[in-house]
Amino acid sequence: MLNPGATIGILGGGQLGRMTAMAAARLGYRAHIFAEEQDSPAAQVSAAATVASWDDDAAIAAFAAGIDVATFEFENIPADAVRKVAALKPVMPRPEILEITQDRVREKDFLRGIGVATTDYREITSEAALGRAIGTLKTRAVLKSARMGYDGKGQVNVDAGSAPDEAWRLMGAPRGVLEDFVDFRCEVSVIVARGADGAMATYPPVENRHVNHILDTTIAPASVPPDTAREAEQIGRDIAARLDLVGVLAVEMFMTNDGRILVNELAPRPHNSGHWTIDACAASQFEQLVRVICGLPLGSPERHADAVMKNLIGDEVETWRDAIAEPAARLHLYGKRETLPGRKMGHVTRLLPRS
Ligand SMILES: Nc1ncnc2c1ncn2[C@@H]1O[C@H](COP(=O)(O)OP(=O)(O)O)[C@@H](O)[C@H]1O
Ligand SMILES: [Mg+2]
Repeated sequence: MLNPGATIGILGGGQLGRMTAMAAARLGYRAHIFAEEQDSPAAQVSAAATVASWDDDAAIAAFAAGIDVATFEFENIPADAVRKVAALKPVMPRPEILEITQDRVREKDFLRGIGVATTDYREITSEAALGRAIGTLKTRAVLKSARMGYDGKGQVNVDAGSAPDEAWRLMGAPRGVLEDFVDFRCEVSVIVARGADGAMATYPPVENRHVNHILDTTIAPASVPPDTAREAEQIGRDIAARLDLVGVLAVEMFMTNDGRILVNELAPRPHNSGHWTIDACAASQFEQLVRVICGLPLGSPERHADAVMKNLIGDEVETWRDAIAEPAARLHLYGKRETLPGRKMGHVTRLLPRS
C-alpha cells in the first residue's frame, strides 16, 4: 500500500490526467505528469512534470525514478514507453491491457473470445480487401482505423455504393476494422473500478449523446429498465475481471432497438462519461483510480444526485460565463490555452434530485 505523500506518475497530460491529479492531491498524494507538450492541463495542477517525447529513454528512466506507481490517462501512448516505465515501477492497469485496447481489432477479438457481444466486424488490411468487403455489404457500415482513433477520428461511413479508394483514403491508416452500422436506441457506458484483490465498484449505466462522433452530453443514470441496467453493469464487471484489471475501465455500449446490448469499445482509464461522478458520487472515477493503484480500499460509487454533464467543445467554452452565473452548475475548465474545433475545453455538470 502506498501512503499519502507517495508520488503517482501519470502518462499523458490531458484533462483525464488533470482530474486524476486533483483527486490524488485531495488524498495527499503527489502527481508527476509525463507529457510531450509544455504546460499540459495535467501538469498545471501537479507537483511535478516531465516534458519529453515518448521515445526519450533517459527522460522515461528519470520519470520512473521519481515515482512510486504509474498509470496512463489516454490510450494512444506508445506501448514501448509504457513497457519501459513498467520495467522500473508498477504500472496499473498492466500494459498488456493498454495494448489490447489500443487496437480495435485486438479489442473486439478479445471481447468475442470472452463471449461479449459486439457488432459484426472484420479486419481490413488493404484497399483491395476493402473493395471486396464493400461489395458484400447488406447494410451500412463504419470503417475505423484500427489504431490511434478517438472522438470519431479515422472513421468513415460506407455502404454498398461507396468508393473503396475514397473510404480508404479518408480512414487514413494501414489497417482498419469494418463494422456493421448499429441503428441503436441509445448509447450507454458503464464504469467499473477494480482493485488488486478483485473488489469492484460499479457506477450505473449512463446515456451518452454524441454530436459529430464526439461525446456531447452524459445523462446519469440512463433511463433503461432495471434488468437492462443490471445486465450492462454485469458486462462491465465481467470484462474488468477477464482483463484482470487493476484500475478503472469504461465500457461503451449500444442498446439496440430489439433490446440487445452490444459493446462498442473499451477504455482502461477514467472516461468522459464518468465526469459527473466528481460532483454526484461519494467517490469519483478519478478517486477510485487513485485508490486502487495505491492499494487503498475502493470508495463508494453511490450517487447522492442524478446528473447531466455537458461537454464544452471548441467555441462552446465561451459559455463558461453563463455556467458560472448559474449558482448550482458545476463548471470544470481544463486550462487549455488554444480553442480548436472539436477540442474538449471543459464541462458543466448539473445535479438533479436522485431518481
Ligand atoms: N458501428 C457503429 N454504428 C453506429 N454508430 C457508431 C458505430 N461505431 C461508432 N459509432 C458512433 O461513433 C461514436 C465514436 O465511435 P467509437 O467507436 O466510440 O470511437 P472513438 O470514441 O474511439 O472515436 C460512437 O460513440 C457512436 O456514436
Ligand atoms: Mg468511443
